[in-house]
Amino acid sequence: MCGIVGYIGKQKALPILMEGLRRESYRGYDSSGIVVLDNGKPVCVKAVGKLENLEKKLQGNQLDGSVGVGHVRWSTHGGVTEENAHPHSDCQGNIFLVHNGIIENYKELKDKLISEGHKFVSETDTETIIHLIEKFFKGNLEKAVREALPLLKGTYGLAVIARDDPQKIVVARLSSPLLVGLGDNEYLVASDPAAIIAHTKKVIYLDDGEIVTLTPDNFFIQDANQNHVEKTVNEIDWNIEEAQKGGYSHFMLKEIIEQPESITNTLRGKLIAESGSAKLGGLELVQEKLKEVERFNIVACGTAYYASLVGRYMLEEYAGIPCEADFASEFRYRKFILTKKTASLFISQSGETADTLAALAEVKRKGGLTLSIVNVVGSSVARETDAGVYNHAGPEIGVASTKAFTSQLAILALLTLFLGRQREMSLVTGQRIVKEISRIPELSRKVLENNGKIKELAEKYKNFDNFLFLGRKYNYPVALEGALKLKEISYIHAEGCGAGEMKHGPIALIDEKFPTVAICPLDSVYEKMVSNIEEIRARKGPVIAIATEGDKDIEKIADDVIYIPKTLEMLTPILSVIPLQLFAYHMAVLNGKDPDYPRNLAKSCTVE
Ligand code: G6P
Repeated sequence: MCGIVGYIGKQKALPILMEGLRRESYRGYDSSGIVVLDNGKPVCVKAVGKLENLEKKLQGNQLDGSVGVGHVRWSTHGGVTEENAHPHSDCQGNIFLVHNGIIENYKELKDKLISEGHKFVSETDTETIIHLIEKFFKGNLEKAVREALPLLKGTYGLAVIARDDPQKIVVARLSSPLLVGLGDNEYLVASDPAAIIAHTKKVIYLDDGEIVTLTPDNFFIQDANQNHVEKTVNEIDWNIEEAQKGGYSHFMLKEIIEQPESITNTLRGKLIAESGSAKLGGLELVQEKLKEVERFNIVACGTAYYASLVGRYMLEEYAGIPCEADFASEFRYRKFILTKKTASLFISQSGETADTLAALAEVKRKGGLTLSIVNVVGSSVARETDAGVYNHAGPEIGVASTKAFTSQLAILALLTLFLGRQREMSLVTGQRIVKEISRIPELSRKVLENNGKIKELAEKYKNFDNFLFLGRKYNYPVALEGALKLKEISYIHAEGCGAGEMKHGPIALIDEKFPTVAICPLDSVYEKMVSNIEEIRARKGPVIAIATEGDKDIEKIADDVIYIPKTLEMLTPILSVIPLQLFAYHMAVLNGKDPDYPRNLAKSCTVE
């Protein structure tokens, strides 16, 4: 949700900014812009549409400056126009700012600033920040920023430069992710480490309220009360190749195909065969407390929420812990009951989703124990929770989450094992689960062998306008995820539904033009799924089944079948979702859509 990048040092800023924006373009791609202080003069270039449009505009533009900031936009206030694109500047063309977040009180601030003579040129909330900074600017940029920020209500990650205080970038954060990269005689700022990893792996993640001043040879960080803050320098543990497409046509395809490796990385060192348990280093600090926990709340958004739903089935069935799963956007506003023995688990790929963070803050305010499953190391959710487990799935760039989902499911299985073995789960059951989890990377590789067949299936179904996805129990959330994947990247209408609920409404939609994807592995609800498929057949609905290898009967009632290997029921979602990811991917590409840049979406929703 908007990407920021900034550079100050000895090199030319422009190529570094453009490279950073390319790596952040998944965060927003409706417009982009940069500003560089070229021989002391600010040169600002913006373009509507994808980053290539900005690149075209900049062609042949030899900017020498070594201070600059850039932005990719995912619009919240004001349409997609050059005026609304960032950077924004003050009335004098002196100060330039890029911003991620929302300023809630921008209307009143704007009215006041206009009455004081400021001229606005955009419809954005962001522009109020720059005029406020202008109002306080007397030659010292960080002083002006410091005076302006307390007047803002809302969220921001921002970076500012000024012609009249040129050897500086001032950076501030409140609820929108930002990090500072420490290079050799150069400093960078970014929303995502991927933007700067080509230059440095040393990063400092900023916390709320912090303001940083970067100069070509130094930096200092202060909190909101102007106290100097000493921060930990983190080392990014993945490399540039992992953040590139590596020969695949799209990040989404690359990330689907690399799931055997990403799940292996997630599981590495965490399975203990002898004791039939899991070693979760990130939970060691709270492991005694976890023994006492009698209830779990799992809170997340989007795909991570569907992983939570699978986790609910796992924790209840195998760890014997009552569990609820909620959308963070609902949870944060309802009066949830938190007993002393409730643990709240927040799942987030980015660790920066605004609703998830707000729900987490509310649980903390009530004094609850907070845990997390997060992919982006050092992100806000990871830092704010009492304890947690990192996915180690590597950077996920595709807007539609794929490898993060299977990694989240793998960790939920590990957590179930860990908590189950703290409780009633027998050694034998624990060992059986460990054995089966360790086979999952290999089994997922077998599922991927169906890629060609799934592409053919997409050819066959590419012109259908509607799809129903059905599943039960562990595969009910997979049905929801399958429908989400299809609609978000191909814009084909898709509904996910618990198969038992079909008779209460969705079945009315079924006819020969409304295919159903039925996830029906050989599990405890297989017969029920078969009955639901029969009901669809009776209404002439085409059926694509995701079934267990060896189940020949299913071919008699389904038009098409994709097979997945047999595994434990609780682990089937990790395998059954893969054909749905591939199906959505091929449907999008065959329909001429770019799955890496689905319209209206952004990877990291840092606004409410
Ligand atoms: C956005 C992304 C989804 C993601 C969701 C939650 O909607 O497009 O892929 O599942 O946010 O993001 P998080 O980073 O919290 O998992």
